[in-house]
Amino acid sequence: MPSPFFATIFLLVLFIGTFVSCTEGAPRAFFVFGDSLVDNGNNNYLLTSARADSPPYGIDYPTHRPTGRFSNGFNIPDLISQELGAEATLPYLDPELTGDKLLVGANFASAGIGILNDTGIQFANIIRISTQLQNFEQYQARVSALIGEEQTERLVNGALVLITLGGNDYVNNYFFTPVSARRLQYNLQDFSVYIISEYRKILMRLYDLGARRVLVTGSGPLGCVPSSLASRSVNGECAEEPQRASAIFNPLLVQMIQGLNQELGSDIFVAANAVEMQTNFITNPQAFGFVTSKIACCGQGPYNGIGICTASSNLCPNRDLYAFWDPFHPSERANKIIVQTLFTGSDKYMTPMNLSTIMAIDSL
Ligand SMILES: *[C@@H]1O[C@H](CO)[C@@H](O)[C@H](O)[C@H]1NC(C)=O
Ligand SMILES: *[C@@H]1O[C@H](CO)[C@@H](O)[C@H](O)[C@H]1NC(C)=O
Repeated sequence: MPSPFFATIFLLVLFIGTFVSCTEGAPRAFFVFGDSLVDNGNNNYLLTSARADSPPYGIDYPTHRPTGRFSNGFNIPDLISQELGAEATLPYLDPELTGDKLLVGANFASAGIGILNDTGIQFANIIRISTQLQNFEQYQARVSALIGEEQTERLVNGALVLITLGGNDYVNNYFFTPVSARRLQYNLQDFSVYIISEYRKILMRLYDLGARRVLVTGSGPLGCVPSSLASRSVNGECAEEPQRASAIFNPLLVQMIQGLNQELGSDIFVAANAVEMQTNFITNPQAFGFVTSKIACCGQGPYNGIGICTASSNLCPNRDLYAFWDPFHPSERANKIIVQTLFTGSDKYMTPMNLSTIMAIDSL
């Protein structure tokens, strides 16, 4: 009685064929790893204080409601998805991330984490980077069950990946207390060399998991965020020690990426120099249409830089006029400037090339 068997095979082929044809011509998949600069809402599902799930977060998002993004509106991954012509990636923990939606990609990021495992321990339950990578493995198993192993590998190899780490290793680790364990252990230079060597291992693991185009960013100008101005600056100038941290970290990151690509014999990794990108609008906010880069739109105390943004904080009426949304995170409009630079920036910002060039090469 072969007919039911063949009928099953036939249906199976039809089923797989439908999925495969659905993925052809679709935007490439997009995967996101890292901290609060890129978290799309995973922490909403966790017992942690590191969350952006209450107003006024999301006030300029299309729904005007908080989503878990640390922004008044779109964050950097959203704006990259838009450039790719794709839907925003869902948080990996979102129950809606099933079926066809898995083929868009996924966001594994979690606010508060860093390169090191002991970064952000005060936030309790957050998804550390090694677990984010395990979740990526689990994701691939789920997609394999849907479209098969070979198609899954193609989807992952063809994807764009974004990873953003490092800022919290300074803010929520090295600088967290005046006598942090890390500070006793390392000077700033040696600490930076150490976390870059750990970042390298994380990137190699991403490569082993199939990532072939990875945009790597580090910390912005840490001394210039409203939080640093409020707690460490004397006259409103960028705070010296965190600035020195960013100035050490970013060139080391670029160097490490160049070495890694050389070793792999291919431009797998692309470094974005977040300090160079943000220094322009921080030193000359008016040229970019901002009224200030020192005062956060939402917060309290000097520069609105003390504590976190909540419903009872000061809130500016027009978020587009502020470079910083809260004491730590850029506004949606600043994010747009950053993403524009990722796509079209010169080699001052992007090593070895910008995303427009990458998209052009990859579409050949
Ligand atoms: C962090 O923890 C993971 C999982 O336990 C481990 O594989 C990794 O080596 C740790 N990283 C550091 C820098 O200790
Ligand atoms: C991207 O980078 C290349 C090479 O540095 C540069 O020539 C080009 O103008 C940049 N912008 C775009 C949109 O490609």
